[in-house]
Amino acid sequence: METEIIIIQENNGAFSDTEEQALKQAGEILQQGGLVAFPTETVYGLGGDALNPESSRKIYAAKGRPSDNPLIVHISKFEDIYPIVKEVSEEAVKIAKAFWPGPLTVIFPKSDKVPVETTGGLDTVAVRMPSHPVARKLIEYGGGYVAAPSANSSGKPSPTVAKYVVEDMTGKIEAIIDGGEVGIGLESTIIDLTVSPPQILRPGFVTRQMLEEVLGQVDVDITILDADSGQAPKAPGMKYRHYAPKGELVIVKGEPEEVVAYINARAAKDAAAGEKVGVICTEEYAAAYKADTVKCVGSRLDEDSIARHLYTCLREFDDENVTGIYSECFTAEGFGQAIMNRLLKAAGHKVIDLSNNKEAAK
Ligand code: TXA
Ligand code: MG
Repeated sequence: METEIIIIQENNGAFSDTEEQALKQAGEILQQGGLVAFPTETVYGLGGDALNPESSRKIYAAKGRPSDNPLIVHISKFEDIYPIVKEVSEEAVKIAKAFWPGPLTVIFPKSDKVPVETTGGLDTVAVRMPSHPVARKLIEYGGGYVAAPSANSSGKPSPTVAKYVVEDMTGKIEAIIDGGEVGIGLESTIIDLTVSPPQILRPGFVTRQMLEEVLGQVDVDITILDADSGQAPKAPGMKYRHYAPKGELVIVKGEPEEVVAYINARAAKDAAAGEKVGVICTEEYAAAYKADTVKCVGSRLDEDSIARHLYTCLREFDDENVTGIYSECFTAEGFGQAIMNRLLKAAGHKVIDLSNNKEAAK
């Protein structure tokens, strides 16, 4: 299959006539059962008609994703929610008012209109109204309901720039819309409103505290807080080791100077053993590291910058065939909870805590 690349100079939703026309055609591809990748404010999505079971099957095939892992249905107007869910609670209206359009996905009991192929066999449906103007326009032209997982091959970090969508999806889908770098860089927060109190199934830019200001008490799925809980995550996708770089990734936790010394010592040893070593660090300490590739992910004072660059860092290490990666540890408060959740998953939860492990620090 030939994959068309459509470039949109996103300008706060002001599209040229040619761009408008291209988005309209992309919408037609969706309506005819084809797949189009597109930018959202979180990560790039791989879109298909959410109400067409055949489109959902194609999405799973293009990603190489297990079909028990449900897709998020993207809408562009709040009223479009009514036909696809059984009930819209007061709570749902409240959080939609507060956070839509934006990086929040909400779980509802699904109506018969949504095929089980889209929901991975579940009787609930995940719905999100993105804020990215390209995404909104495409959803509108695509018929209103676009199923879209992140546009990466299963197991790779979600794409935050079109280059990585092209790498994973060329030849597998009809079109890729290149709208530049995304703003947030990590997938949306998922909240389940079918339970009481509501529960966060995946942390993201919209934090627990932000949700509690609107809803009162909100719980967090135990498996996000405790990797050893022995329970299955409530969002099926969270059970997979997503976001995995090819090289082995280890997170090093401790006082910054100790972390630098430890990583430099391990990097020297690994390099002597023939490894190609990479480091993920913050601006504040970047100059102190000695390894083959040192990548600065952002500033400790600006966690948005860390979120935006994390997946690209992981992808670049793959491009550079790095075989071992050490990462600094970041704070797990607020939006930091989402950053650490993704980093821990990428590392398969391998953490060296120098405060418990003075031996290792020598
Ligand atoms: O930011 C995002 O949400 C991006 C962009 C493209 O919108 N999409 C995204 O989709 O991250 P995906 O498929 O990579 O992740 C969807 C997650 C999976 O962990 C899946 O298991 C969960 O949402 N999910 C979907 N429907 C669900 C449901 N009915 N109940 C529980 N979890 C659900
Ligand atoms: Mg994904």
